[in-house]
Parts: sequence; C-alpha cells; structure tokens
Amino acid sequence: MKSDDIRARFLDYFQRRDHRLVMSSSLIPDDPTLLVTNAGMVQFKPYFLGSEKPEFTRATTCQKCVRTTDIEKVGHTARHLTFFEMLGNFSFGDYYKREAIPWGWEFLTVDMGLDRERLYCSVFTEDDEAYDIWKDVVGVPEERLVRLGAEDNFWDMGTTGPCGPCSEILYDQGEEYGCGDPGCRVGCDCDRYLELWNLVFMQYHRDEKGELHPLPSKNIDTGLGLERLASVLQGAPNNFETDTMAEVLHAASHLSGVDYGSGEESDISLKIVADHSRAVTFMVADGVLPSNEDRGYILRRLVRRAVRHGRLLGITDVFLPRMVETVIEIMGDAYPELKQNSAFIDAIIHSEEERFSQTLRSGLVYLEEAVSDLKSRGGKVIPGDVVFHLHDTLGFPLELTRELARERGLELEEEGFAVLMEGQRERARAARIEEGYAPQVLEIYSEILDNYGESRFTGYETVSDKAAVLAIVNGGHAVASAAPGEEVEVFLDRTPFYGEMGGQVGDTGTISSPAGVAEVIETFHPARGLISHRCRIAHGEIKISETVEASVDAERRNAIRRNHTATHIVHWALRQVLGDHAKQAGSLVDPGRLRFDFTHFQPLSRDELARVEELSNRKVIEDLPVRAYVTTYDYAISINAVALFGEKYEDYVRVVEVDEISRELCGGTHVGRTGEIGLLVIAGESGIGANMRRIEAFTGMGAYAYFHRRQEMLNDMAEKLKAEVNRLPDRIDRVLQRVKELESAMKKRGREEAASLVDGGIDWKESEAAGGVKILTAAVDGLAAQDLRELAERTLTGRAAGVVGIATIHGGKANMVVALSKELTGAGLDAVELMRKAGRLLGGGGGGRPDMAVGGGSDTSRMDEALAVMAEEVKRALEGHA
Ligand code: ALA
Repeated sequence: MKSDDIRARFLDYFQRRDHRLVMSSSLIPDDPTLLVTNAGMVQFKPYFLGSEKPEFTRATTCQKCVRTTDIEKVGHTARHLTFFEMLGNFSFGDYYKREAIPWGWEFLTVDMGLDRERLYCSVFTEDDEAYDIWKDVVGVPEERLVRLGAEDNFWDMGTTGPCGPCSEILYDQGEEYGCGDPGCRVGCDCDRYLELWNLVFMQYHRDEKGELHPLPSKNIDTGLGLERLASVLQGAPNNFETDTMAEVLHAASHLSGVDYGSGEESDISLKIVADHSRAVTFMVADGVLPSNEDRGYILRRLVRRAVRHGRLLGITDVFLPRMVETVIEIMGDAYPELKQNSAFIDAIIHSEEERFSQTLRSGLVYLEEAVSDLKSRGGKVIPGDVVFHLHDTLGFPLELTRELARERGLELEEEGFAVLMEGQRERARAARIEEGYAPQVLEIYSEILDNYGESRFTGYETVSDKAAVLAIVNGGHAVASAAPGEEVEVFLDRTPFYGEMGGQVGDTGTISSPAGVAEVIETFHPARGLISHRCRIAHGEIKISETVEASVDAERRNAIRRNHTATHIVHWALRQVLGDHAKQAGSLVDPGRLRFDFTHFQPLSRDELARVEELSNRKVIEDLPVRAYVTTYDYAISINAVALFGEKYEDYVRVVEVDEISRELCGGTHVGRTGEIGLLVIAGESGIGANMRRIEAFTGMGAYAYFHRRQEMLNDMAEKLKAEVNRLPDRIDRVLQRVKELESAMKKRGREEAASLVDGGIDWKESEAAGGVKILTAAVDGLAAQDLRELAERTLTGRAAGVVGIATIHGGKANMVVALSKELTGAGLDAVELMRKAGRLLGGGGGGRPDMAVGGGSDTSRMDEALAVMAEEVKRALEGHA
C-alpha cells in the first residue's frame, strides 16, 4: 500500500466517523512556546485548553512535523526522522477512550490488515480504564498489554500546556530487529517494538510551576506515524525504504554515485541526506529561513548536516537543491505549498549550501590538524581556543565540531570556548561602534549579520538575480512587510546591487515580488559585509521570506563601470606623464562622471592634461581586456598590484587588471574591455590642498554629452557672430580688432568733449598772482580723472593760464587736478605740494609730477575751499619770489 493510499484511507476512516478534515498547519506554529510544529495537536491547542471554541468537536489531519530532539539517531536507527507526517484524530470534549481505542485497533487490523498477533499495547501504569478497554472491549490478550511509567506513557507537548496519560500501539518487527538483549521488550529503545500510534487522553493542563490542572473537558489527541506504518505495510526494513522516502534516498545515491547498501557508513549518510532534505524543503516552504537562532537555526543545522554527509558521500558540488527538487516532485501533490514556493526554496537552499561548503572545506582541514596534534600528545579534549578559531574565524558550527569530536572519541573544552566567545562579542560590538554606527542602530544590523551572515554580492556576474528577503528594517526595527509609500531597508540573501564602497556609488534599481515593487534608492553597507537596499515601496507589498527579483538599473551601472575602469586608466596615464609620484589619493565614481584625486606639486599644464587625455583614449581605443580575480593579499602585493595607502585589506583581495598597463586592488565593478568606455574627456583640473590635485572627467555617453554641449555652444556663438563655426577664430580676431578701434575712438571722443568744455560752459574763477600770473579754478560736474587732466592741460595753454585747478565729484568722491605752466615749475613751484595741501582739506591727499598732480578725498563738500586754498598758496609763494 502506497503512502498516499494510507494517508487517504486514514483520513477517510475518520471522516466517515464524523471527523472534520483539517489541513496540516504550517511548520511555523502559531504558538510562542514552540519553535516548530512537532505534532498534530499543535494547531488545536486552544481547543484543548478551552481558550477557543471550535466549530466542530472531531477532527482528523495529516500533519507535517519536525522534531530534532533525536537528530543524532537519524540514519542510525530504522525509525527516527526529523521530518515526518503524523496522521491524527482528535476529540474536543466529544468522544474519549472508549471510542478512540477500538477505532485505533480497527483501523490497523481491519483497514490496514496488520497481524493482530504482532501488535502490542502499552498503557500508563495508573490507567486501569484504558487497560480494561484494551483487555475487555478490544480483546487484546494480557501478555501483549503492558503498563509503563510516565516516561513512556504520559504525553506533553512541552514543559507547559495540555497533556495526559497515553496508550501506544506497537508492532513487533521480529527478533532480527532487536538489540539481542535478553531483557528486550516493549519500551526498549531498539527497533524491534515499533511505536506506531500514540493515543493521548488529553485531560490536564500543566502550568509554569509544573502543576497539573484538569482541562475543562476530556479530549483525544492521537498521532500515527505515516512513515512507520508504511514501512510495516510495505515490508520495508526502515522508514527510508518506504515508497516516498526511497525515491529521495535514491536521488542521494544517484547524485553521489554511492549505492545504497554498499556500506554501513555510507548508508547512514544517504539516510541523513534523505531525511534532512525533506525537512529543509518543508521548512523553507513554510517560510523558515536559515539563521543563527530559533527555528532558523534548526533549519541551518539540518542544511549543514545534510551538506556534510553529502561531502562524506563524495559529492563535491552544490547538490541539495537537486534533492529539494526530488522532494517537491514526490510530495508536491499532497503539499501544494512545495510547488508554489519551489523557486524560493531552491534559492535559499542553494545559497545556504554554497555558503557552508566554503566553511566546511577550510574548517575540516584545520580540525583534522588539531585532532592529530592532540592525539599525538595523548589528549582527549579539544582546547577551547581551537574550537573558538573554528567557530569564529572559519565559521565552523559548534555542533559540527562537537559531532566530529564525538565521532573521534574526543570532547570539547566548552568553558574555555564560552569565555572566548563572550570576549569576541564585546570586541565586535566595540568595533562596530568605532566604525561610526550608533549602538542602537547597530543592534539590528548586528542581528541580521549574526542570523544570516554576510550578504552575498552577485553583481560581478549579473545585474539581475532571484533572491530571498531575509529582513526588512523600518526606522531601525525589523518588520515583516512594507506597504506602498514606506521607506525601508531590505536585506537579501544574495544581491546584484553594489553597495557604495571604495569611491563607487551604490546601485539603484528595483526589487519586485509577485505582490509588489520596491524602488531601490540607494545601496550601502550599514556594517562590514552587510548590504542594505534603501527602498521606497512603489506599489503592492514586500514581505520577508519571499522570493524577489532584484534588478539593478543596468544603464546606470554601465555608466558607473565605464567611469570606474576609466579611473584606473587615468591613474596609469597620469603616472606616464607626470611620474610615479602621481598616486591615487581618493576617487569618486558615479554614473555621471569620475573624480580622481592624486598627489602632484603643481597645476598641470594644458599640454600635460592633453597628453593624459590622449594616452587614456588610446588605451580605450585599443579595447584592452579587463580582468578581475581574487587572490591572497601577499600574492597581489608580490605582483605589484597597487593598493590604496591607509586602506585595510583582508587576507584575500580582488585584483583588477587592465591588460598589461594597470593592476589594482579593487572591489568595484568594471567593464570587460576598455573599448566599452567609448571616449574619455578631462573636463577640469584643480588644486585641493597642498600637493594634491583633482581631475574630473567624463566617459561614454557622459563624454559625448560634454562634447555635444560644447558643440552647441560653438553653434550658438557662430550664430551670434554670424560666421560658420570653422571661421569663428578669424571672426573673433576681427571682432576684437574692431573693439580695440572703437575703444580708441571713444577715448578720442572723450578728449574732444573735454576740449569743448575749455571753450564754454565752465564757470572759471579767475585771479591773479604776483608777476601777472593767471590762476583759473573751477568745480565741474562728473568728469573722470583722465578727463580732468586733459581739461587742465588744454586750459593751461588755451587760456594762457599759469595755474589751473579743477575739482569734480566722481564715483561719490572729490577728485582734483592742479596743473602749472613750465615757467612756474622752473620758478620752483610744485603741483604735487599744492595738491597735497588741497587734498588734505578733502580728507585725502595727492601725487603726480611737479607740473601736474591729481588727488582728492571723500569730503565732497569742501571742493571750493580746497581750490581757494590752492590759489592762495600760489599767490603767497609768488609774492615771496617777487
Ligand atoms: N500528540 C501526540 C504525539 O505527538 C499524539 O505523540
């Protein structure tokens, strides 16, 4: 009988007895006391407790369950599984033992046709009622009826919650399954007496103090292991050889090339891979994500164990996704959620396996060395620092170390490990605070890092990737979803989005789920190794645990790549032109332009800039290959890769090479060949501090746009100057020539204007000094200094004067000129002295030649006085002469 038939017939049996068929609930229970759903009754807990009233009093289910308490036994026994299907019938204050017991017996012996002689029943020591029903109502002979203590026959779901005595139906698989112990009987831990069905008489509630209280009603909760029943009905020696599980087992065998049955160890590994593959498939389908705590950790541990046993079987490539595929194929009809979420499951399992494989490789090598070292010294305990190094540096899970140690008969020094762990936690916190993150903001990022590890960047290979939403942060708090208009940070298990780093800006683009679209506004690293997408939800909804398509704005990314590779080329060209001292001091690469700061002691000449630009463009046109690879820091330095001064590097670094000309340590995104850059133009060069220069440049369409703008400018100029563009230089020369001519014409006109003033319009004050010397003074309106002198000179000759003084207001200030005839200067008179005296009155001074001095001051109200003083001074001087 196929498992599907057993399941159907069970559910049918109880539906015919008025049970409501209820769907299996999620593996993520709606119950904070429980990490994963581990029994059929979990979804009915409120009904048993009486806190909720069901619409029905009888139910039947086939419940998917995960139990990891016996994880170490999986593969080693015939019957232990971490994932299994539990068939169950339930009564909520309806029927009780008197119905449940005979129905159980009838279903197994009549409907399933099990041999009565091989069935045993156990009851709780004190439960005479159940004992009597088995004996008198069902007719089970007393030699196959056993009373067992609370350990075996009192069931509870945990430390608190509904519980009660139970009765089990067991199947004797025969002596060959037994442990051989003469005391082996029902209750023994070996595979002989297989517990098929557990009937729980749910009548108590255990509180936090451990005290039992009667429930409002008496209930039935049963659990029949589908895989176990199938193994009995199908004559399979264990769960793994039943119809559904065998196919999964064979997939593992096929992938590894190891036949089932070819060895004890390899059989165990095959079984573990088969069991864990089912568990992880179902868990992820229900939205559990690998993490370092709670149910996420259960999942992570299962994935890791499966991967490790895959490696033990010799599978070197990522294989779990193919196991998952098989599970979905076989069970997808009974559990449609598997098919609905297949892409998501695949993505999660794939990245988790990939992440762990790396860890496993390095960790195993280290552990083996440590173990052989320990054994050579006769030690039995792996020291705490070894365990810590495995965990902290190599990311090796603690249980794995523990398991491997146990396999080798060794122990771990757990205490030493714990002390080192605590110290490490403190240091990590302190370091992150030092990196500039506020402690409270940090908390959430640390949590994400702790839970999911570092973000996996896939953007070197692709600009669009399927990813799983690990976390959403809104205002510093983790949330389950984000609605339209909200601005949140989204964290993915893998992402093609480049987070701003090393001078290269972060990517933008979209994250779309089946139900919504988020615009990625910026991508950055809120903590080392963690990539955050700052998003605005455009429409619909983005939720955690769903598969999304993460698509980078490719055109923008291409522009960034061109600019980034161009900085490497410019760096090289600068060193060719200026010398090796021209080293990168910083850079900014965005889609619009590149900025490159470097050390050099003086501005670059036009010629130097032109050569840098020309050399760069030559390398662009040569279409050189650009390569990137990861290697050790030491190797990179040994081949002269350029490292940025003051930058911290890890042991492994990425090297970017532009053919033979440039080799730099760089994490950025680059073009595949320099030809993609298209064109490079240096748009500016400036100083940014002592011995530091900055170049700004455009590439690709940016360079094209730059030249296009310039071309447009030329066209505009040509239009304004009414000339063709290539005749512009000639035209501009001519225009400049014309400007010069006009300027001198204007000067001439100024002089003529001044001359006309000599002849009229000016109100001259005339006086005479000794010897018939004529003194002329005047205050006139708004003449420029130049014109003042002109006018004074002309008046001196034109009116046969000996002394001319003119004052004017120009630009809000008093300007004045004093001019003397040749005779007077010959007689020892000095225009400069006269001007200075007058200038003092104007609140200023003066200067010039002995025959012509100019001056002035801010006091425009005393111009007449100043002129008068000047005239008086001349008179006094000449009198003295006479
Ligand atoms: N809740 C019971 C069990 O899990 C039936 O065994």
